[in-house]
Amino acid sequence: MVLKGKSIWQQSNCIACHQVYGLGGYLGPDLTNTYTLRGPAYITAFLQSGTAIMPKFHLKKIEIEALLAYLQNLDASGKADPRTFTINTNGTIEQ
Ligand code: HEC
Repeated sequence: MVLKGKSIWQQSNCIACHQVYGLGGYLGPDLTNTYTLRGPAYITAFLQSGTAIMPKFHLKKIEIEALLAYLQNLDASGKADPRTFTINTNGTIEQ
Protein backbone atom coordinates (compact mmCIF):
# COMPACT_ATOMS: atom_id res chain seq x y z
CA MET A 1 0.00 0.00 0.00
CA VAL A 2 2.81 2.41 0.93
CA LEU A 3 4.73 1.65 -2.28
CA LYS A 4 1.58 2.02 -4.37
CA GLY A 5 1.04 5.37 -2.67
CA LYS A 6 4.59 6.40 -3.44
CA SER A 7 4.11 5.62 -7.13
CA ILE A 8 0.86 7.65 -7.18
CA TRP A 9 2.78 10.48 -5.48
CA GLN A 10 5.38 10.27 -8.27
CA GLN A 11 2.87 9.89 -11.12
CA SER A 12 0.76 12.80 -9.85
CA ASN A 13 3.91 14.94 -9.59
CA CYS A 14 3.02 16.25 -6.12
CA ILE A 15 6.72 17.07 -5.66
CA ALA A 16 6.46 19.80 -8.34
CA CYS A 17 4.64 21.95 -5.76
CA HIS A 18 5.33 20.23 -2.41
CA GLN A 19 8.47 19.29 -0.49
CA VAL A 20 9.50 16.15 1.36
CA TYR A 21 12.12 16.97 4.01
CA GLY A 22 12.45 20.44 2.53
CA LEU A 23 13.19 19.24 -1.02
CA GLY A 24 10.82 19.80 -3.91
CA GLY A 25 8.70 22.62 -5.30
CA TYR A 26 7.81 25.62 -3.15
CA LEU A 27 4.34 26.56 -4.37
CA GLY A 28 2.67 24.46 -1.65
CA PRO A 29 3.74 23.44 1.88
CA ASP A 30 6.13 20.65 2.95
CA LEU A 31 4.08 17.48 3.34
CA THR A 32 6.50 15.35 5.39
CA ASN A 33 4.50 15.69 8.60
CA THR A 34 1.11 16.68 7.23
CA TYR A 35 -0.41 13.34 8.22
CA THR A 36 -0.25 14.11 11.96
CA LEU A 37 -0.51 17.88 11.57
CA ARG A 38 -3.74 17.76 9.54
CA GLY A 39 -5.04 14.19 9.48
CA PRO A 40 -6.36 11.94 6.70
CA ALA A 41 -9.79 13.60 6.28
CA TYR A 42 -8.21 17.01 5.66
CA ILE A 43 -5.72 15.57 3.14
CA THR A 44 -8.50 13.68 1.34
CA ALA A 45 -10.53 16.90 1.06
CA PHE A 46 -7.58 18.67 -0.57
CA LEU A 47 -7.09 15.85 -3.08
CA GLN A 48 -10.77 15.70 -4.02
CA SER A 49 -11.54 19.42 -4.10
CA GLY A 50 -8.24 21.14 -4.87
CA THR A 51 -7.86 24.90 -4.34
CA ALA A 52 -7.39 27.94 -6.57
CA ILE A 53 -3.75 26.87 -6.99
CA MET A 54 -3.70 23.13 -6.35
CA PRO A 55 -5.46 21.04 -9.02
CA LYS A 56 -8.20 18.56 -8.18
CA PHE A 57 -6.93 14.98 -8.50
CA HIS A 58 -9.41 12.49 -9.90
CA LEU A 59 -8.15 9.54 -7.88
CA LYS A 60 -10.06 6.40 -6.99
CA LYS A 61 -10.80 5.73 -3.30
CA ILE A 62 -8.16 2.98 -3.24
CA GLU A 63 -5.59 5.38 -4.74
CA ILE A 64 -6.35 8.01 -2.10
CA GLU A 65 -5.97 5.34 0.61
CA ALA A 66 -2.59 4.35 -0.85
CA LEU A 67 -1.46 7.98 -0.95
CA LEU A 68 -2.55 8.40 2.68
CA ALA A 69 -0.59 5.26 3.64
CA TYR A 70 2.48 6.75 1.93
CA LEU A 71 2.07 10.10 3.73
CA GLN A 72 1.56 8.30 7.07
CA ASN A 73 4.72 6.24 6.51
CA LEU A 74 6.65 9.35 5.50
CA ASP A 75 5.44 11.17 8.62
CA ALA A 76 6.61 8.30 10.84
CA SER A 77 10.13 8.52 9.35
CA GLY A 78 11.00 11.78 11.17
CA LYS A 79 10.35 15.50 11.52
CA ALA A 80 11.07 17.84 8.63
CA ASP A 81 10.92 21.21 10.37
CA PRO A 82 14.44 22.11 11.62
CA ARG A 83 12.92 24.88 13.79
CA THR A 84 11.63 22.16 16.11
CA PHE A 85 15.11 20.65 16.63
CA THR A 86 17.16 21.22 19.78
CA ILE A 87 20.75 22.29 19.04
CA ASN A 88 23.15 21.12 21.72
CA THR A 89 26.24 23.11 22.71
CA ASN A 90 28.48 20.40 21.25
CA GLY A 91 26.90 20.93 17.82
CA THR A 92 24.73 17.81 17.74
CA ILE A 93 20.99 18.07 17.22
CA GLU A 94 18.03 16.25 18.73
CA GLN A 95 14.61 15.89 17.18
C1 HEC B 1 0.24 22.89 -8.99
C2 HEC B 1 0.80 22.73 -7.67
C3 HEC B 1 0.34 21.61 -6.77
C4 HEC B 1 0.34 20.25 -7.03
C5 HEC B 1 0.77 19.54 -8.30
C6 HEC B 1 -0.11 19.62 -5.81
N1 HEC B 1 -0.39 20.56 -4.85
FE1 HEC B 1 -1.04 20.20 -2.95
N2 HEC B 1 -1.13 22.21 -2.58
C7 HEC B 1 -0.71 23.19 -3.47
C8 HEC B 1 -0.84 24.49 -2.82
C9 HEC B 1 -0.46 25.83 -3.44
C10 HEC B 1 -1.36 24.24 -1.52
C11 HEC B 1 -1.70 25.26 -0.42
C12 HEC B 1 -3.14 25.67 -0.54
C13 HEC B 1 -3.31 26.78 -1.51
O1 HEC B 1 -2.59 27.80 -1.39
O2 HEC B 1 -4.11 26.65 -2.44
C14 HEC B 1 -1.52 22.80 -1.41
C15 HEC B 1 -1.99 22.16 -0.27
C16 HEC B 1 -1.98 20.79 -0.09
C17 HEC B 1 -2.36 20.12 1.13
C18 HEC B 1 -2.76 20.80 2.44
C19 HEC B 1 -1.50 21.02 3.25
C20 HEC B 1 -1.69 21.82 4.50
O3 HEC B 1 -0.84 21.68 5.40
O4 HEC B 1 -2.64 22.60 4.59
C21 HEC B 1 -2.22 18.79 0.92
C22 HEC B 1 -2.46 17.66 1.92
C23 HEC B 1 -1.76 18.61 -0.45
N3 HEC B 1 -1.64 19.85 -1.04
C24 HEC B 1 -1.49 17.39 -1.03
C25 HEC B 1 -1.08 17.21 -2.34
C26 HEC B 1 -0.82 15.92 -2.95
C27 HEC B 1 -0.87 14.58 -2.22
C28 HEC B 1 -0.50 16.15 -4.26
C29 HEC B 1 -0.24 15.14 -5.33
C30 HEC B 1 -1.30 14.17 -5.56
C31 HEC B 1 -0.53 17.61 -4.46
N4 HEC B 1 -0.89 18.20 -3.28
C32 HEC B 1 -0.22 18.24 -5.65
C33 HEC B 1 -0.25 23.01 -4.76
C34 HEC B 1 -0.13 21.79 -5.40
